[in-house]
Amino acid sequence: MRGSQDCINIGLLGCGTIGSGVYHLIQKNYSELTEAAGKPLKVKRILVKDPYEPRPFEVDREIMVTDPGQVISDESIDIFVEVMGGIQPALSLALDIISSGRHLVTANKEIIANHGRELMAKAAQTGSHVRFEAAVGGGIPLIRPLEESLGGDNILKVMGIVNGTTNYILSKMSSEGSAYDQALAEAQRLGFAESDPTADVEGFDAASKLAILCSILFKRGGTPREIYREGILSVRPEDLENARELGFVVKLLAIAVRENDLISARVHPTMIPDSHPLASVNGNFNAIFVVGESVGELMFYGQGAGSLPTATAVLGDVVNVARNLGRPPISTRTYWLRDASIKPIGDTVTRFYMVLRVIDKPGVLARIAGVFGDNNVSLESVVQKGIGDSAQIILITHEVIESNFMKAKNGLEKLDVVLEIPSVIRVESGSESKSQNA
Ligand SMILES: NC(=O)c1ccc[n+]([C@@H]2O[C@H](COP(=O)([O-])OP(=O)(O)OC[C@H]3O[C@@H](n4cnc5c(N)ncnc54)[C@H](OP(=O)(O)O)[C@@H]3O)[C@@H](O)[C@H]2O)c1
Repeated sequence: MRGSQDCINIGLLGCGTIGSGVYHLIQKNYSELTEAAGKPLKVKRILVKDPYEPRPFEVDREIMVTDPGQVISDESIDIFVEVMGGIQPALSLALDIISSGRHLVTANKEIIANHGRELMAKAAQTGSHVRFEAAVGGGIPLIRPLEESLGGDNILKVMGIVNGTTNYILSKMSSEGSAYDQALAEAQRLGFAESDPTADVEGFDAASKLAILCSILFKRGGTPREIYREGILSVRPEDLENARELGFVVKLLAIAVRENDLISARVHPTMIPDSHPLASVNGNFNAIFVVGESVGELMFYGQGAGSLPTATAVLGDVVNVARNLGRPPISTRTYWLRDASIKPIGDTVTRFYMVLRVIDKPGVLARIAGVFGDNNVSLESVVQKGIGDSAQIILITHEVIESNFMKAKNGLEKLDVVLEIPSVIRVESGSESKSQNA
């Protein structure tokens, strides 16, 4: 009977921030969605933990259930929308749905990033449609453009601001000179940060999203555990001020670069030139900058989270699946089963910004330059500022192999004239395009 009714039946697994937004838009945009999907969309059942919880939007409580079996076993449901979050029970429910050849739309980056391989393998066997546009970049159309519109190009690099919380905090620290704690408290007050912000500020959320992007772009399965990750806790307001003076801004970037058969994938605070398109992405906005061999540079920009922006991405997937019911999925994504070869962070070639607090006496700079020289690190710029008995040296290196830079840093820490190295931040260049059709 599925797909042959006069409407498309939806089973909503979760009805919180995103789920209630999805329900709301299905009612509000009824005619637009009917036109787009080919038939009216009808929410048949909703799974929640507590039907009496208040919801961000009004929802029909009569169709709410707390037993997952009552949704999963409903044979009339065409498309399941998983917006519960977390690994379990979301993963088991997703596997049940896909194993029975039914179709899944999910916003859950955790199950796709960590268990994409199991899900895609199962979907390839059963022919299920699996879509997850909202899992990266919230409301920004990204996965489908990367998978389909750019399917004919060789993507060389992606650099993304994929976490709105950290972007809000860094923007606030940079524009108002706020301390980290103050900026975080403001983000929490505005609902841009969770009460436990660990996943965001330590870069776990961005690493999960980057793992998904790497799989889509480079046609290999990888997990967030393989991605080098550093959060924003070490970024000081002084670094943001120094960056501004040097013509840079600091962003938490998720970066992936294809290097022959290797993928360099990393999440860390990054200095980018203030002229770079990502430099002007402020507040809780997200943006993903992509460089394709033929298409050149592209940037996708918008709301990376929030109820209605994210619900829009979910509904885009629902419409896409609804229009293709009865047909095989565009891609079975069996490439997810191939292993990704991730380049060790020590082999990465990048530039570095470093701040040293040193004893202010003649010959110090020469000793520091000597340590860099011994480790094949050459310096692009050096600025010295006197502060009482000590001085602060702010330097930027030329491109270096990361392991050489780290050896130099260890050597500097051993010098008696170096009091402290309070900051090290990687620097990305502004010129990206290797387009062949320039
Ligand atoms: N929030 C965003 O801006 C955003 C953006 C992009 C992607 N996402 C993703 O979207 C998903 C949903 O996020 P959200 O912010 O909407 O979460 P949320 O507000 O916490 O909502 C989760 C919903 O799932 C239900 N639920 C959770 N565990 C359940 C269980 N064991 N049994 C039955 N129901 C259960 C909850 O029921 P009760 O309501 O009864 O508690 C709630 O309705 C997550 O994967 C998240 O990563 C969110």
